Amino acid sequence: MAISESTINEIKYRNDIESVISPYVSLKRRGKNLVGLCPFHNEKTPSFTVYPENGSFYCFGCGVGGDVFTFVKLIENLDYISAVRLLAERSGIAVEEDAYDNSLSKLKEKIYDINRESARFFHNFLMSENGKWALDYLAGRGLKIATIKHFGLGAAPDSWDALTEHLKAKGYSLTDMLAANVIGKSQRGSYYDRFRKRVMFPIIDIRGRVIGFSGRAMPGDDKAGGKYVNTSDTPVYKKSENLFGLNFAKKYCEDRVILVEGNMDVVSLHQAGFQNTVAPLGTSFTPAQAKLLSRYTKEIVLTLDADEAGRKAVQKDGEVLKDTGLNVKVVTVPDGKDPDEFIKKHGAARFGAVLDGAVNEIEYKLLTAVSDIDVTSDAGKVKYISRAADIIAASENPIERDIYVGRMCDKYGVSRTVLTERIAEIRRANAKKTARKEINSIIMPKFDTNAPNPEKRLHPAAAAAEESVIAVLFSHPDFFGEAYGKLKPEQMVTSLNSRIYGRMCGVLSEGGTPDISDFAEILSDSQMGYLVSVINSDLARGNPLTVLKDCISVILNEKEKKNAPDVKNMDIDDWAENLKKLAEKKRGKRNG
Ligand code: CTP
Ligand code: MN
Repeated sequence: MAISESTINEIKYRNDIESVISPYVSLKRRGKNLVGLCPFHNEKTPSFTVYPENGSFYCFGCGVGGDVFTFVKLIENLDYISAVRLLAERSGIAVEEDAYDNSLSKLKEKIYDINRESARFFHNFLMSENGKWALDYLAGRGLKIATIKHFGLGAAPDSWDALTEHLKAKGYSLTDMLAANVIGKSQRGSYYDRFRKRVMFPIIDIRGRVIGFSGRAMPGDDKAGGKYVNTSDTPVYKKSENLFGLNFAKKYCEDRVILVEGNMDVVSLHQAGFQNTVAPLGTSFTPAQAKLLSRYTKEIVLTLDADEAGRKAVQKDGEVLKDTGLNVKVVTVPDGKDPDEFIKKHGAARFGAVLDGAVNEIEYKLLTAVSDIDVTSDAGKVKYISRAADIIAASENPIERDIYVGRMCDKYGVSRTVLTERIAEIRRANAKKTARKEINSIIMPKFDTNAPNPEKRLHPAAAAAEESVIAVLFSHPDFFGEAYGKLKPEQMVTSLNSRIYGRMCGVLSEGGTPDISDFAEILSDSQMGYLVSVINSDLARGNPLTVLKDCISVILNEKEKKNAPDVKNMDIDDWAENLKKLAEKKRGKRNG
């Protein structure tokens, strides 16, 4: 990292961790630390801890951790350098431009530029004489010019190199175009435009940057090779973590957001006045997308086809949305149409009425559970009621349960007591299952604390001792001489700890004091979390110098064990040789 250490320190000094985190997480004081609900995973009891003392945070639930920069990086979805830059800006500290020598953040900037330039190219082409075919198509689908401009829609010419040549002329390299995924490279090594003869939807993130494209083929174009061609994941784009239309919808969806299936649905619903509409990007709805939405809205309305696939989708989306705390509603668009087609045929007012008829998840499930059952027969009725009992039992709201029990009883003539009793039984059984799961999750924490340092499984004693050495040295840098004299970084058993200790020794030997920020460039996110958990743990109880010395001897011992040849697999000569060495060593010890 090329930003000077003193600049980093100044930025940190002006952005204390508590004031950086508190706008995002409501923190409560606990002893000298602060705790709150983790913003990076869903939880009901706080395991997210902030340590003002050394400017770090750690979540015991999911294992994320780091310093202020790590926090901003993760919560704002930035790279480390951009996070440093953001905090510098906030506190009015100037950072020399040419100090950024981080190649990834440079590449990202390039990709954003290429995407913006490509979007401009596609849009201009759509509006030009040559793009008339595409504009006619969009007009034929009912889009107004204002809508096309609002979304920055475009068209890719029927050419293998028009965009490539355009970007080249603007000074962009083929390598960067490839990274942006606007061009491809053939097996023979030639480059080609990925989007050809297509209507183009730029995908824009919540900060207004073009991050990718979705290109739709012309109807009846058999040579097109797929109805849609989409940007693959790039350093600035992950389709599972973004939503089409959220850049506009975020301002309109405080109360509720409408989730539709396709880009075209988003565009025409926005045009019809439903600006709170978004769509996933050619994948099914993901937990990351649910999480993203939960930052902007309270309620999500799923719009679905009235078929089997639609029902499955509700099940799946419902699962994904379970822990987000979002209120889930479901509407079925009549006559198997998608919202775009529906609105074109029946108008916005009718679609509004459809939305008003949105039912909650239970109602929807009760409605659809009946579809393959003949409820006019007694056997059918029994089957349906028992399915309904399962559905109602899943609600955590007693009033809601009571309402639906009442409805079912009225409609199917079942006794209220019987149905209520049945539901109570199901709930007891479910509660038992949940309890079992919870116990398991206490015994086996959700987050595998061994994950960042996999060698810990093989060498638990060594790893634990190494962690203590790191923790002691973090709070007692004055023990450096003592530690380094006995233990060199390469003598640590697990390679992650060896790397961390190596870096610490580097800082300490120059007279510095180690700080978690010193590790950002050599550790991954999860390793940062590990380091923070290590330095904040209470491992180093007892006299720290004694702990340090004891741990060092444990490590040296374990290292020797690890290096010792495996006797089981030796041939007879090696075995004899080994014995001789051991004997010599013993003698050496006695004499020395
Ligand atoms: N999709 C995709 N690749 C495909 C088909 C679909 O990525 N081969 C994604 C697109 O994001 C598309 C969504 O799935 O918007 C829904 O697909 P579909 O219903 O087929 O398209 P529509 O959006 O309805 O497009 P149109 O109305 O123009 O047919
Ligand atoms: Mn459609």
